[in-house]
Formats: sequence, C-alpha cells, structure tokens
Amino acid sequence: MTIVELVRLFAEPLTTAVVLTDTDLERPGPTILYVNPAFARMSGYTAAEMLGASPRLLQGLDTSRQVTRLISRKLRAEGRYHGVLENCRKSGEAYLCEIDVRPLLGRDGEPLAFLAFEREVVRRRGRPSQDPAGRYRPILPEPLEVCPMGTAPSLFA
Ligand SMILES: Cc1cc2nc3c(=O)[nH]c(=O)nc-3n(C[C@H](O)[C@H](O)[C@H](O)COP(=O)(O)O)c2cc1C
Repeated sequence: MTIVELVRLFAEPLTTAVVLTDTDLERPGPTILYVNPAFARMSGYTAAEMLGASPRLLQGLDTSRQVTRLISRKLRAEGRYHGVLENCRKSGEAYLCEIDVRPLLGRDGEPLAFLAFEREVVRRRGRPSQDPAGRYRPILPEPLEVCPMGTAPSLFA
C-alpha cells in the first residue's frame, strides 16, 4: 500500500481537513498528493484542482510573508509547523486556518511526505490568552478523531 492510499483510507471520512504533500520545499514545491473531502469543503477547491498544486494556492494578497517565511524555516529545520494563518477559499474569501504539519518518516528516519491537519478557527473575543492556541476557537465543535503521530502532542487536543 502506498502512503497516498494509506492516508486516503483514514482521512476520507474525517471532518478535519487533511493535506498530504511530497517533501520538496523548494518552489514550486511542495506538491499536493492528496486532500480529503473535508479540505475540499473548507477551501472550495475540488481534490482534482488541488492535486499537483502547491498549498501556496491558498495564499492571498494579505497572507503574511512573515508567517510563510516562518513555515518555511520550521519545516526545513524541524519538519513541523503548527500555527494559525490566513488562507483564501477558491471564492476569494479569507479564513483563519489552524494548521499542524508533520513529516511522515520512513524506516531510516527520513521524511517520506508531509501531512497537515487543518481546520478553520475564529479569534476568541475578550482578553488575549497567554497560550497562543487559546486565542482561537474552532468553527467545528468536533474534536480531531485521530492522531496518527502517536506521542507528538496534538495541537487540536
Ligand atoms: C502539508 C502542507 C500543508 C500546507 N498548507 C498550507 C496552507 O494551508 N496555507 C499556507 O499558506 N501554506 C501552507 N503550507 C506551506 C506552503 O506550502 C509553503 O511551505 C510556505 O508558503 C513556505 O514556503 P515559501 O516561503 O516558499 O512560500 C503547507 C505546507 C505543507 C508541507
């Protein structure tokens, strides 16, 4: 079974958006290998439109270069990025998106692919929380159904 087939098996029924890419972080990479139906519902793009594209397709004119530089740095240094950024739906509407990107490691410890869990969030009203994750709340009430990385702390917990 390939990675794409395996990820499709668990991700297809999830309400959390899932994006699988290759590990090529040089532009125009990374290349999207799979998105689940929840991702298509959130972004407005069909799976067919996203396959072969880069997640940068979701960036708009207001996307912060500071944030994208941070993603690039984190993915190169640690293979992980967790944060909230502004994405754009196909319609052009901006939405806040919490994303947790992790590497899928092969037996030799080398990354075979990147897997991202993504969900739309809104800013909480009131005094900002000390905890960055506490500043946002998810649009969907459902918790993340599955955490495939085992020991790594789940941002959606
Ligand atoms: C699996 C995965 C999912 C990603 N999802 C998003 C996303 O939803 N929105 C976004 O702006 N960038 C996303 N990115 C990050 C971009 O693909 C890219 O790495 C980022 O823009 C930094 O690279 P750059 O400085 O060359 O643009 C994702 C990356 C990976 C590996």
